[in-house]
Amino acid sequence: MERITVVGAGNVGATCANVIAHKDLANEIVLVDIKEGVAEGKALDIWQTSAINNFDTRVVGVTNDYLRTKGSGIVVITSGLPRKPGMSRDDLIRTNAKIIVEVTENVIKYSPEAIIIVVSNPLDVMTYAAWKTSNKPSRKVFGMAGILDTGRYTAFLADALDVSPKDIHALLLGGHGDSMVPLRRYTSVKGIPITELLTKEQIDKIVDRTRKGGGELVNLMGTSAWYAPGAAAAQMVESIVDDQKRIFPVCARLTGQYGINDLYIGVPVKLGKNGIEEIFELNLNDKEYRLLHESAEHVKSVVKVLDDMSLFPH
Ligand code: NAI
Ligand code: 2OP
Repeated sequence: MERITVVGAGNVGATCANVIAHKDLANEIVLVDIKEGVAEGKALDIWQTSAINNFDTRVVGVTNDYLRTKGSGIVVITSGLPRKPGMSRDDLIRTNAKIIVEVTENVIKYSPEAIIIVVSNPLDVMTYAAWKTSNKPSRKVFGMAGILDTGRYTAFLADALDVSPKDIHALLLGGHGDSMVPLRRYTSVKGIPITELLTKEQIDKIVDRTRKGGGELVNLMGTSAWYAPGAAAAQMVESIVDDQKRIFPVCARLTGQYGINDLYIGVPVKLGKNGIEEIFELNLNDKEYRLLHESAEHVKSVVKVLDDMSLFPH
């Protein structure tokens, strides 16, 4: 791909740009931030690893200069405040919604064809805000959370079972918050259902830790995580650039699937060169369906706060 832009050169944005560069997914990555010098400095630092890490992707940083992002095929939006201990992701909405709307307007002005991947929190609602602002088809605007949450779930399972995380296949649904729904029925180790390898109590504990996995890191570090979030967003970019058609849990706009309409929430999708190429509708049991709908109700309550801010041009 000719050019990929990452907006927000903070912890997640810079990490994401670094992973994309290492994978040589574009001729050029443009890192954008509003803080003078930050994007320029981090881009230069990443570019200076090219000879060490053996990649060609040029990495440049700019301060709010969207002209330099012109013609990007993919834009990853990570700009906005992260949470501090004691805050929920939803507490960020008032500040971050304004940032997402402004950034999306700038992005589409110079890259009208871009696929937009939102990372900023509260994720499901910020993705909806970017979609509303962009006026683009929803298959080209979606959010990253499920790969991260599944990564955490998988890491905890690998620890509990003392197996390679590479052999674990796991899936989860729902919003990026404590109401997310890890699906134990769809989780297996080399095809062996985890229900045959772990007790219900062990799985309950892992599911609970996964749901609170973001908060665990905020409490340890005083700010939210970045290595796994940055790598997760880069994995979505890779599936699109290389048209891999991989299946990931992604924050996508539902239009009736799972009995949910006009809401962005995490579901399994196929990601290829056109963005979201398919949304998979699983046969959920009653409990899974109820948990997904509880999560959707939570996301809807945060969408209501956003709608009351009256930010959208149309
Ligand atoms: P950070 O504070 O390290 O970086 C954010 C950057 O955005 C800062 O450099 C800031 O100057 C920049 N920024 C603010 N307003 C901007 C604007 N209008 N235009 C361009 N840049 C702007 O924060 P971090 O840790 O990188 O997190 C970024 C966002 O991602 C937060 O909202 C966080 O909650 C979210 N997040 C989401 C995850 C997910 O799974 N979806 C996982 C981890 C973080
Ligand atoms: C995370 O889950 C805070 O959304 C961020 O790490």
